[in-house]
Amino acid sequence: MNVLVTGGAGYIGSHAALALLRAGHRVLIVDDLSRGRMGAVQAIRAALGPSGAERLTFLRADIADTEALTRAMAEHETDSVLHFAALAYVGESVLEPLEYYRTNVGGSISLITAAVSVGVRRFIFSSTTATYGEPLPGQVPIRETHPQSPINPYGASKLAVERILRDVSESQRRTGHEPPMAFACLRYFNVAGCDLTGTLGEDHTPETHLVPLALGCILKTQPSIDHTLTIFGRDYPTPDGTCIRDYIHVDDLVNAHLRVLTALEPGDQRIYNLGLGRGVSVEEILGAIRRVTGESVRTVDGPRRPGDPALLFADPTKIKHELGWVAQVQSLEDIIASAWAWMRRNPGGYGE
Ligand code: UFG
Repeated sequence: MNVLVTGGAGYIGSHAALALLRAGHRVLIVDDLSRGRMGAVQAIRAALGPSGAERLTFLRADIADTEALTRAMAEHETDSVLHFAALAYVGESVLEPLEYYRTNVGGSISLITAAVSVGVRRFIFSSTTATYGEPLPGQVPIRETHPQSPINPYGASKLAVERILRDVSESQRRTGHEPPMAFACLRYFNVAGCDLTGTLGEDHTPETHLVPLALGCILKTQPSIDHTLTIFGRDYPTPDGTCIRDYIHVDDLVNAHLRVLTALEPGDQRIYNLGLGRGVSVEEILGAIRRVTGESVRTVDGPRRPGDPALLFADPTKIKHELGWVAQVQSLEDIIASAWAWMRRNPGGYGE
C-alpha cells in the first residue's frame, strides 16, 4: 500500500512509519516538525538501509495546507492514511482551546478534504480514551459503546473528528461516491515504551507522560522538575490511592493499526479501543521502574492534576474478536525496559 503518515516524525507516528516500511509498504510522512523530530525520520532511514529508505518520502508541511497535501498525495498515489498529527496534551488544551480545535479539527478537515479528492480508500484516525470523559460508575473497563462526553478540549477535538469521518462516510454512501472511503477510529489508552529493535524512542518537549518523565528523573535529564517526579494525587478511590491507567506498548498499538489497515473494506466504519484491559496505578509503575532499573525515582506528593479521572482502562475484546489482535507485550517491566534502553542510549533524545 501507499500510506500517508501524518505526524510521522512524532512518537507514535514514527513507530507506525517504521512498521509500515518494514512490512513493505511505501510511506509518505507529512510533519511540520512543530512537535515531531527530524531525528526520528533519520533513525528510520538509517535502520532500513538504502533499499528500504527509498520507499520513504518526507514532506515538511502543515496538514492545514490542503493544496500541498493534495499535490503530495497525488504524486505518491496515496491509497491509505494514518492520521497521527495532532496536539495531544490535555492540560495545554484547557489553556489553548482554539489552538487545539484549529490544529486537530481544522487540520483534520484539510487532510480529509485532500484524502477524498485523491480517492483515498482507507483512513485510520488516532483517537483517544479522552473522548469518553469521566467514565460512568460501573462502566470500567470501558467499552467502545461507553457514552462519549469529553471533559477537555483535547478530547472534544478528537471526538469532533470521529464525527466528521462518520458524516463524510455517510454522505459518500448516500451519493454513491466511488471508491467509498473506509475509516477506523482507534481510541488509544496510555501508550508507552519504545520499539523493541531499539531504533526509535519517545522524545517530547515538554515531556508530561509518566513513564519517560520518571525514567528521565533517574537519568537526571529532567532538570526542569529537579529530577523529582510529582505524584499527582494519593487520595483517589483506588487500592493505593494513585490513579490507574491502561499502559499499552507502542509496537502493539502500531501493529493494531496494520491489522486494521488490511482488514478495512470499502465503506467500513470501525471503532476500536486499544489498551490491554489491565489497570496499573502510578505506584505500580514506579515499582516496575525500580525492578527494571534497580533505582528508585525520587518523588514528592502533589495535588491531583485537573482533569485526571481516577480509573481508566479498556475493554479491548472487540478488536480481539473481530481482528484477532492481542497485545504481545504483556509485561509492564518489558514496556518500561524498552523505554529505559532507548533513553539510556539517547539521554538527549534525538538531540535537536
Ligand atoms: N502522573 C503523575 N505525575 C507526572 C505525570 C503523570 O503522577 O508527573 C500520573 C497522572 O496523574 C496519571 C498517570 O500518571 O494518573 C499517567 O499520566 P500521563 O500524563 O502519562 O497520561 P494520561 O493518562 O494523563 O494521558 C493519556 C494520554 C493522553 C490522553 C489521556 C486520556 O497521554 O493523550 O491519556 O485520559 F488524552
